[in-house]
Amino acid sequence: MSDSELARLYDDMAREHLTPLWKLESSILPPVPCPKSVAWLWKWKELFDVASRSGRLVTIERGGDRRAVALSNPGLGGAPYATPTLWAAVQWLNGHEVAPAHRHTAQAVRFIIDGRGGYSTVQGDKVYLGRGDMVINPPWYWHDHGSDADEPTIWMDGLDIPLNNYLDANFFEPHAGEQQAVTQVLDGSVMKYGVGQLRPAWEPRSDRYPPIFAYKWELTERALLNLSRVDSSPFDDVALEYTNPHTGRSVMDTISCWIQMLRPAAHTQAHRHTSSAVYYVFEGRGATVIDGIRFDWEQGDMFVVPSWAAHEHLNALNDQRAVMFSIHDTPVMAALGKYREEPLPSSGGRQKVTGRFDSTRVQRANSEAP
Ligand SMILES: [Fe+2]
Ligand SMILES: [Fe+2]
Repeated sequence: MSDSELARLYDDMAREHLTPLWKLESSILPPVPCPKSVAWLWKWKELFDVASRSGRLVTIERGGDRRAVALSNPGLGGAPYATPTLWAAVQWLNGHEVAPAHRHTAQAVRFIIDGRGGYSTVQGDKVYLGRGDMVINPPWYWHDHGSDADEPTIWMDGLDIPLNNYLDANFFEPHAGEQQAVTQVLDGSVMKYGVGQLRPAWEPRSDRYPPIFAYKWELTERALLNLSRVDSSPFDDVALEYTNPHTGRSVMDTISCWIQMLRPAAHTQAHRHTSSAVYYVFEGRGATVIDGIRFDWEQGDMFVVPSWAAHEHLNALNDQRAVMFSIHDTPVMAALGKYREEPLPSSGGRQKVTGRFDSTRVQRANSEAP
């Protein structure tokens, strides 16, 4: 075959919208995952600053139902996504405000950062929320939020919006009224199902989604402290996944949620896995080393660990615990047969630290790139 014949072959392929695999095998079938998203950290100081200013300047109204500020991973070309599968945001609700009722097929969770007197109503079940409470929102369940207090309520949102849109599966519907009717007694699902190992004897199991809409901090903290007395993970220290108490499954089909305690001076071993995660630092001060870069964090900060990035966590304080809430796309990877996990064999499970994360320096390096 002559060069001109080969050139004509490629021209014909291009005209017919056909592509030869042998030209791009290494990019679409790489030997290991090559995530576009990057490890990143957002400081609470900045998150609080922009969220509180949004609270002063932006009203909540139909068409803009939620005052949520999304983490936009710099590796994702300006998309408002923390990872290719996860949306994470800080949501700000002013005192006496209402975020109107709607429903969507995107699956959602919320972790309360601050506020008293804030509440969520999910499918008729109204629950008052406090710091450390975790709320789930199964797909197509009506939900609205409000506050009876003077001060704002602030929480972290976690949704599968990127995945949902990638799959062309998003539906959204506003409720006819600003708030849905409350159909149960206050805190109904917490009172009925809050002690997870017991359920009303006459009811069937809730197989698909947890029957409880709010996981209260008091019970979560007790479980963490109890676990710390009997067991821990070399990679995560004391870590618990929130589950459907009837099945043991993750709270959502697409998102798993963790609460994790690093005991004083704890330093975990490094591992990596094919799932991405977003962390919120609930308490304490420490660092996570991600692919050799040290990300120092303190209370309120949020950070991303991309797929297949080596990571280890450490508590920088000798006399205080560190606590992190996190969301993961692990259920998606596991359900699709794509989950893989391995410890890092190097030097006793710890990485060599080659730098410290500095968002200004990394941003400058990006903007100087050709
Ligand atoms: Fe929503
Ligand atoms: Fe991990």
